[in-house]
Amino acid sequence: MLLVYFLGSLGFLPVTSGLSVLLGHEATVPCIRSCSKVEWFRNEVLVYNFTAGNISVAPEFEGRIKFSEADLRKGNASLTITRVVYNDRSWYVCSCDGQKGCDHFLEVLVPTPFTAAVGAKAKLPCYAVTDKHSSASNVNVRWEKDDKLVVKLEHGEMETGEEYEERSSVSEEDYRKGDLSLTIDDIRPSDAGLYRCSALNGQNQIPEVVALMVTDSPSLYSPAHGWTVAIVLIVVFIAAAAVLWAYRGKVSAFIRSPPDNTVPADEE
Ligand SMILES: *[C@@H]1O[C@H](CO)[C@@H](O)[C@H](O)[C@H]1NC(C)=O
Ligand SMILES: *[C@@H]1O[C@H](CO)[C@@H](O)[C@H](O)[C@H]1NC(C)=O
Ligand SMILES: *[C@@H]1O[C@H](CO)[C@@H](O)[C@H](O)[C@H]1NC(C)=O
Repeated sequence: MLLVYFLGSLGFLPVTSGLSVLLGHEATVPCIRSCSKVEWFRNEVLVYNFTAGNISVAPEFEGRIKFSEADLRKGNASLTITRVVYNDRSWYVCSCDGQKGCDHFLEVLVPTPFTAAVGAKAKLPCYAVTDKHSSASNVNVRWEKDDKLVVKLEHGEMETGEEYEERSSVSEEDYRKGDLSLTIDDIRPSDAGLYRCSALNGQNQIPEVVALMVTDSPSLYSPAHGWTVAIVLIVVFIAAAAVLWAYRGKVSAFIRSPPDNTVPADEE
């Protein structure tokens, strides 16, 4: 039954492909078709309707759809969604003159923030369920930053991107524990950006994207922090001095009084 259903759904969705977009960014769901009437559905609910020059957009997409009549006339019925929200994660199906086509799943990626200081060593997280007995030839991990190679471990061989030579690595040993994290030595300001990890034979990978922010120097000793600490110390010192000054009589009396004067009053 399951197999039949699976084959059935394959037959029903002839064109499928995965798209991914970062939260808040712009996504284009492609559809190269010539049609005069275009309807885009998200999970079978109408998103966008262009019929005989009339346009209607679902309320949750109001002001977030880019659709060009000129493009459509040129045979491009693609749908562009701006300021993507997490709930936009879904299947999108285009109906062109009543004919179904162009099925795409839109994946919405939420970057995991990560902060590292210039000159420090950083370990960008990535985990997946891997085979703990993987032979070197089955280990396949790839890290990219802004679509450029950072490091690749394949068939036991490591290759690094130009800017990451001799200072980035993933560990084959850790891979067998499901840890595909990327180690970068000597962080540079230019390392800031979005990093994606992918593992050919890994499952349930988290996180999908890491947003690396690079700070000037270790945060505790940063100039801004130094000033805050100095000001707080000065304020505390002045307050303590003021309190001591206000109570100076009592304090000096207390200091001068011999120990046996401190017995409770009712015993005198
Ligand atoms: C799209 O708009 C046309 C014209 O307004 C309408 O006839 C059609 O039913 C709409 N499509 C859907 C799926 O609601
Ligand atoms: C398009 O809209 C106009 C007015 O806004 C309406 O008269 C016309 O019937 C609509 N066409 C379709 C196909 O719904
Ligand atoms: C179709 O239009 C989209 C924008 O809506 C654009 O990103 C894409 O490149 C176009 N595709 C072609 C083949 O012209």
